[in-house]
Amino acid sequence: MRNVVLVAPYFSENMRHCVRCFASLPDVRLSVLSQESAARVPEDLRACIAAYECIGDPAHAANIIDGARAVAAQWGTIDRLEGYLETLQVPIAEARDAMDVDGMRAEAAKNCRDKNRMKDVLRKAGVPVARQALVHGIDDVRAFVATVGYPIVLKPLAGFGARNTQRVHDDASLATALNQLLPSAQNPVQAEEFVRGAEHTFEAVTLGGRAVWSSSTSYLPSPLTVLENAWIQYAVVLPREVQPPHVQAFAEINAKALAALGVRDALSHMEWFLRDDGSAVVSEVGARPPGANIMPLLAAGHGADPWLAWARLMVERTWQLPERQFAAGTVFLRAMGGGEVVRAVEGVEALRNRLGPTLHGMKLPRPGQPRSQHYEGDGWVIVRHPQTEGVMAALQVVYDTLRVR
Ligand SMILES: Nc1ncnc2c1ncn2[C@@H]1O[C@H](COP(=O)(O)OP(=O)(O)O)[C@@H](O)[C@H]1O
Ligand SMILES: [Mg+2]
Repeated sequence: MRNVVLVAPYFSENMRHCVRCFASLPDVRLSVLSQESAARVPEDLRACIAAYECIGDPAHAANIIDGARAVAAQWGTIDRLEGYLETLQVPIAEARDAMDVDGMRAEAAKNCRDKNRMKDVLRKAGVPVARQALVHGIDDVRAFVATVGYPIVLKPLAGFGARNTQRVHDDASLATALNQLLPSAQNPVQAEEFVRGAEHTFEAVTLGGRAVWSSSTSYLPSPLTVLENAWIQYAVVLPREVQPPHVQAFAEINAKALAALGVRDALSHMEWFLRDDGSAVVSEVGARPPGANIMPLLAAGHGADPWLAWARLMVERTWQLPERQFAAGTVFLRAMGGGEVVRAVEGVEALRNRLGPTLHGMKLPRPGQPRSQHYEGDGWVIVRHPQTEGVMAALQVVYDTLRVR
């Protein structure tokens, strides 16, 4: 029997699914650390959870440690301490360190979380990354621009969801970006040269630091471009071929990067740029399952649940996912027009008719819901097809047919 502790601050749909995946593994006794009171645990999860601790903000490792110690007091030992949320990777790893639980250490988690530290480690290991600087004010930024020239990117050191990521192309846009980010001695900001290229991901499963599985998706276009243009419908494509030539060429760089960062037993999610001259640049790494609908795309492409595979990976240190049978793609639907609220979704029936079985899933925006500020938009569609070209054509049908007003 393995004693597994999962940090699940709130019970979103995805989090509930994750709890069920861990609980369904053989010989697992699952405990949950949450910010919700025990009374608010969803009914359908109660039978899955063998011990429950309501904890303070898990952004502080001390709260996770308190909760895990309370579980350890009942169960004797803790074998795993896990959680998939990006912002909790460091505190969860600090709690593992403090309680000597097997899994990613805090040093490695910090390498994957602090963008400046990440690129320092990667550059020293000979992995291609953008030139960067940690800036504390306008003088630092000017000095950086004097070296690399415009455009540059300014962003928070430990951001996610491209929140507050700013492309800066001249002195005027620099002033606007600085007003958003307000760098200071206490709040340094990450500056990077702007990399021109197509943005891709690389998901890798490593066991004991050795790559045992990988996959890649393409962002169409980059999240930053999506945020800069309200009319763009953002898409992510999982090709039918698991390792097309550009991905094969990148696998070695990915492996070198993960080794340098200290990623050992993980499903990791890397973002990287492929430049026109064929060279690759690593953008960032998360030592956790990917977002951007990549988990549902893998489910569509492989006909199995990658969340369950991930839970098994974290607990048993094994990886099982059937071969890919389909290419898959997702469009993140973004409302048109300047309003703040979704008024209508048009073309749903036409889309069903035009796509038939290629239409794999949808989460349609509800009229009345506030407009999303995220590049993942107000809702999504997932398509799948035996060929990548079939997915590309289906994405075009989605663009042409569905309208969110
Ligand atoms: N140096 C860069 N050059 C070009 N685009 C960048 C650069 N850094 C970030 N971006 C763009 O901004 C997006 C968000 O930045 P990222 O570093 O991935 O932060 P987050 O952790 O918020 O995802 C990226 O997906 C990419 O489109
Ligand atoms: Mg990113």
